[in-house]
Amino acid sequence: MTEQAFWNRRADRYAAEPIADETAYQTKLATTRRLLRPDMNLFEFGCGTGATALIHAANVRHIRAVDFSERMIEIARGKADKAGVKNISFEVGSIENIDLAPESLDMVLALSVLHLLRNKEAAIARVFSALKPGGYFVTSTACLRDMLPAIRFVAPLGSRLGLLPHLDIMTQGQLHAAMEEAGFAVEHEWLPNKKAAVFMIARKPA
Ligand SMILES: C[S@@+](CC[C@H](N)C(=O)[O-])C[C@H]1O[C@@H](n2cnc3c(N)ncnc32)[C@H](O)[C@@H]1O
Repeated sequence: MTEQAFWNRRADRYAAEPIADETAYQTKLATTRRLLRPDMNLFEFGCGTGATALIHAANVRHIRAVDFSERMIEIARGKADKAGVKNISFEVGSIENIDLAPESLDMVLALSVLHLLRNKEAAIARVFSALKPGGYFVTSTACLRDMLPAIRFVAPLGSRLGLLPHLDIMTQGQLHAAMEEAGFAVEHEWLPNKKAAVFMIARKPA
């Protein structure tokens, strides 16, 4: 099964699931919102069913939101139509090969997705190149090596059996280092609790 098929199969259930930690989610939204300006162009990858893009859309000019799962994008488009939101373009696409013009974006969002990539360093480098100087990279990432150290023993088999997606079992320190190696300055880093995803805001130097 491909990674896309894995997420297509889960999309409807994912759309219906409640947010695991609503308080932490609201804090992340508020922290992000403080950086938003009405003239900003955002890009989100791994947008899923578009929940976060739909919340931020009112505060920016435009959001280009992509996900490689067709079903996730179908649900996201349906939600945007229902809500009458016109300034998000939802596209099927992968961060690995989607066209991104250099220095064209004010902010990139990657929420619950960096730990799913086979090469997060390449994705981080693509984001760095696509951001304008001073642009923000807002991420929330399960650093599974810290959260659930034993998962590294079962993840490869789970992925082979189609029970888990591919997982990059990283530590928070490794994620931080990957951001800095790409050229970012990490301006904000928040771990709501030991079993939570790391919320990180990295900035491309102005
Ligand atoms: C855990 S969900 C998170 C969805 C959403 N960001 C959220 O926070 O609810 C991960 C999403 O990333 C997408 N995804 C995984 N790898 C991707 C890639 N290489 N390019 C684009 N989307 C990807 C999956 O299809 C899935 O919708």
